[in-house]
Amino acid sequence: MSQFPPNTAISTYYTEIAHKYDLKGIFYLDLWPFGPSQMILVDPDAAELVTTIDNYPLHDEVARYLTPLLGEDAIGAADGEKWKMLHQILVPAFRPSNIKAAAPIIAEQVSKLLSPALTAHAQTGEVFSMEKYAAQLVFGISSMVILGDNVSKEEATHLLKSLNHIVDYATTLTLTTAVNPLTKANKWWKKRAATQQMDLFLQRFVTNRFAQIAEGKIGRDGTNLTMLDTILSNARGTQCEAHDPTALKPAFLRIVIDNLKGLLLGGFGTTADTLCYVFIMLAFHPTVVTNLREEHNNVFGSDIGSPKTILQKSPHKLDELVYTTAVIKETLRLFPVGFGARRAKPGTTLLTYNNMHYPTRDQMIIPCTHTIHYDPEVFPHPTTFDPARFLDSTAAKVPKDAWRPFERGARACPGRGLAMDELRIILLLTIRHFDFQCAGVDSERSITARARHTDMDLAMGDLAFQEMGFSAKARGGTMMRVSAVRL
Ligand code: HEM
Repeated sequence: MSQFPPNTAISTYYTEIAHKYDLKGIFYLDLWPFGPSQMILVDPDAAELVTTIDNYPLHDEVARYLTPLLGEDAIGAADGEKWKMLHQILVPAFRPSNIKAAAPIIAEQVSKLLSPALTAHAQTGEVFSMEKYAAQLVFGISSMVILGDNVSKEEATHLLKSLNHIVDYATTLTLTTAVNPLTKANKWWKKRAATQQMDLFLQRFVTNRFAQIAEGKIGRDGTNLTMLDTILSNARGTQCEAHDPTALKPAFLRIVIDNLKGLLLGGFGTTADTLCYVFIMLAFHPTVVTNLREEHNNVFGSDIGSPKTILQKSPHKLDELVYTTAVIKETLRLFPVGFGARRAKPGTTLLTYNNMHYPTRDQMIIPCTHTIHYDPEVFPHPTTFDPARFLDSTAAKVPKDAWRPFERGARACPGRGLAMDELRIILLLTIRHFDFQCAGVDSERSITARARHTDMDLAMGDLAFQEMGFSAKARGGTMMRVSAVRL
């Protein structure tokens, strides 16, 4: 596996192993003494067994990884009854009506945080890191949608810095190359300070917001609610014993703070990394760019100043962007950001799949999205970037359980609707203005494909292999050039 660039995402290795040894359905990887033995599910039907048909518990390693980053009450680290209670509290914040109401806010953030930077880089022609802008933009959007517009510019800058420290430390835990212990200790220290600062800020923020809701100053008419407002107001009807509508109990405050961190972090790298990969894929596929522009003109009019006004009145028009949606889906197929890890269902030691019994005891059970997405029997010509496979006329050919970048079942990503709308709006507001090119790829292009599961490195070089981070991301900071489209 030395053909891959440093710190290639672990899912790439699973896929390569599956292709090399022609492994189908379920296989095992014994990683002793470096980690738990892994049971890799590489067929949609097998993945469904532990996610939708049954909801297998999280593997202990997930909680061990996430708890020091987010706190003990974050939904991503919770299981069983506690997970159900947190799910009840959080899910209403992701109601489709709430998400669609956020469309103008998202558009405003794109105009403020991304468009001016791209215009400036188009003028100079210099190479820049798209990852940096994607992170700033996605954080700006998340902060507005989750917390609202009461966060000052200075507070937002501190929050973003803290999130970056948390991600930076989390990344050291996932790297496949050795990390200098002093560097790791330094990052741990910064992460610790960052989480303390975030906790203090959120404690003040949530306490104020709770008081405003209790005084009836926010949310009476149900409009302009932030996700935090929905969480605070919604806990009333749930099994959350810590909640008391008349007073903010410390245990409930803890739950809210840990989950705000979870939402800020959960939507941060994942959406920003996907955005980077969408721009990368568009840089290599000019015909797809032409199709996107045509769709944007058809649905939102050829006056490219109008989408923001239209989004304010009719955010549901976003759902008419079927080709744009297909482009995002196809990008997420080729570059899914991660996977969940499960353990055996209590009281069971076997998983029955295709009439065979597979031992589950002491296994880390991994439904591997990346491998499923590169299976030629599921997605014909898997390394061809072909958004059309997700259009209505052909989508019927994609089995419904095969595309799973947000995972499926009860624990599927609650932020998927928000992420898809963010990405659709960002594309709508940038693609007709700019052309994107990847910088530095020429020297990395392979002469013959380095792997069995992909040949995308022939065109994209190392970018074909996602880099391990908090989520699997585009490597090297996504260095790009941009030029303005002549109208
Ligand atoms: C392109 C963007 C995104 C991708 C690809 C993505 C993907 C995922 C995946 C694969 C999971 C794990 C599911 C499992 O363990 O089975 C997950 C969980 C989660 N995601 Fe996302 N996500 C994205 C954006 C977001 C956003 C925008 C938010 C919130 C603002 C969010 C919040 C969460 C939370 C809270 C969980 C934990 C759910 C639970 O454990 O019940 N995600 N996401």
